[in-house]
Amino acid sequence: MSSRLLPVLDRSHLEPAPPPPAPVVDPRLAEYGPDGAVLPRFAIWTLGCQMNKSDSEEMAGRLLAAGCEPAPTFETADLIVINTCAIREAAEAKVIGRQGQLRRLKAANPRLRVVLTGCAVREASRASLARRFPAVDLFLRPDEEPEIVERLGLASAQAGLGRAVVAPSRATTLVGGQPVSDAVHLPSARAAAVAAGAVARSSRISAWLPIIYGCDKTCTYCIVPFSRGPERSRPFDEVLAEARALAEAGYREVTLLGQNVNSYGHDLPPEPRFAHVAPERWAGRRLDLRGRPDLAELIRAIDALRTTDGRPAIPRLRFVTSHPWDLSDRLIAAMAECPSVCEHLHLPVQSGDDAVLRRMGRQYTIEHYLERVERLRAAVPDLALSTDVIVGFCGETEAQFEATLALLRQVGYDQVFAAAYSERPGTPATKLADDVPAEEKRRRLNELLRVQEAIGLERNRAWLGRTVEVLVDEIVPPRSHDHEPAEEGRGRLRPAPGEVALAGRTRQNKLVHFTGPADLLGRFVEVRIDHAGPYSLRGTRLGAA
Ligand code: SAH
Ligand code: SF4
Ligand code: F3S
Repeated sequence: MSSRLLPVLDRSHLEPAPPPPAPVVDPRLAEYGPDGAVLPRFAIWTLGCQMNKSDSEEMAGRLLAAGCEPAPTFETADLIVINTCAIREAAEAKVIGRQGQLRRLKAANPRLRVVLTGCAVREASRASLARRFPAVDLFLRPDEEPEIVERLGLASAQAGLGRAVVAPSRATTLVGGQPVSDAVHLPSARAAAVAAGAVARSSRISAWLPIIYGCDKTCTYCIVPFSRGPERSRPFDEVLAEARALAEAGYREVTLLGQNVNSYGHDLPPEPRFAHVAPERWAGRRLDLRGRPDLAELIRAIDALRTTDGRPAIPRLRFVTSHPWDLSDRLIAAMAECPSVCEHLHLPVQSGDDAVLRRMGRQYTIEHYLERVERLRAAVPDLALSTDVIVGFCGETEAQFEATLALLRQVGYDQVFAAAYSERPGTPATKLADDVPAEEKRRRLNELLRVQEAIGLERNRAWLGRTVEVLVDEIVPPRSHDHEPAEEGRGRLRPAPGEVALAGRTRQNKLVHFTGPADLLGRFVEVRIDHAGPYSLRGTRLGAA
């Protein structure tokens, strides 16, 4: 029975909290209590970024550890958890648009309960959530997700302690005058989940590893600091222990996660073993990393986990996202010197114009950004670069948009994630006029994507004839290829008898399609590139490692 209990979370480092008000018993949740005794089958719908995917793995792990079973579909679930994204209005609209379906599911299954978590659940808008999401029974802010089992009354059902309880929400911090989540307890909650095996990882090949929660940056358009609260780093040794466990479990690739991984460590206590870490002088507010572990230290330590024959125990190490503001020389050197660190960096630029960057609160100039890119490329041969761009930000002129196109051509990105600016409630940019008309935003977005398609194709063509190492992570199911662009990806693949269509990524994060036996899944394969499209490569398998 004990294996079904959730770990006790260590919150001993927290300030003693004032006595909580009397718990509110929510009758809609009460039937998960001991009288019902039947644990719900759950399904999780995850939207948004890698951080949400990682958070969902942890929630699934906690529900499994509590004895719940996964349901294959929403229709067969008694508990639906929706992990939302709020980065743009369209992301939130996706969930609002499902309220009717949820209502129908609830009518068909009166036991069904719906939990809404993720970045759409912000303290400042808690009051309006019930109105906007009428089918939802329980709202959890991102920092409340570790409590999912207790909030649903599942832990108390096991312990026989009584009814489901909707506990009062946890303490908040003020950001820009708004109450936001406080991520202070998330590192210890993660450590407890890892120790209890309560992380249900969705892949056996690649793993997410959160290293820093929240965001301290000042991007005026962005909702994340309001939904996830101030930065909080996980202790160095805990991250390293999780990485070691992933290596022992056979993971081939690990991606360190944070809204801005480059500020990792600035909130950790200084220690003599990190005495050599010194802050560097960069634009914007300087991070005080003196004597503290920074990202460079962390990736060097993970890279130093070796097999008995001296190879990196985790062959591929990635990290995302890097803010150009504090991308240090120390990090660039570590990338260059650690064989496991992949030759790919996601470095969001957002705009190619300094005045727009200033209005966005990004704290760097294009000159600074280009200097970083130059240094990165000099240090890391064959480096692939990807970026994020927002078009149509407040006051963006045609000339400023053209400057972004020029920057894309100058840098030659391998991949660009672009979106039209979407005003988010409560963010500083709401004080600026959202004055680029929707139709003009769409035109700029389409033009940017067209320009980038040609750049991406050129970058990919440079790989023709080269042999690359592919980590196979997908068996592509056979299907009609009729509607695929003829030149792209798997369209022309003809697996031989006994073989299947396979896909995987190079160290540069390029998608490669080829054919081979199904048991290559999870292995490194040498592939010669025969064909390049703007978004993927196709090749011939030479051998497997
Ligand atoms: N912390 C990461 C990820 C932020 S969200 C970073 O700084 O890169 C991912 C991307 O969404 C951002 O880089 C930005 O390009 C985009 N984005 C954020 N807020 C937006 C908004 N209000 N409208 C349109 N795009 C937005
Ligand atoms: Fe948002 Fe900027 Fe933080 Fe990224 S760095 S999450 S864009 S505030
Ligand atoms: Fe979306 Fe939150 Fe990630 S707003 S992009 S899910 S941090």
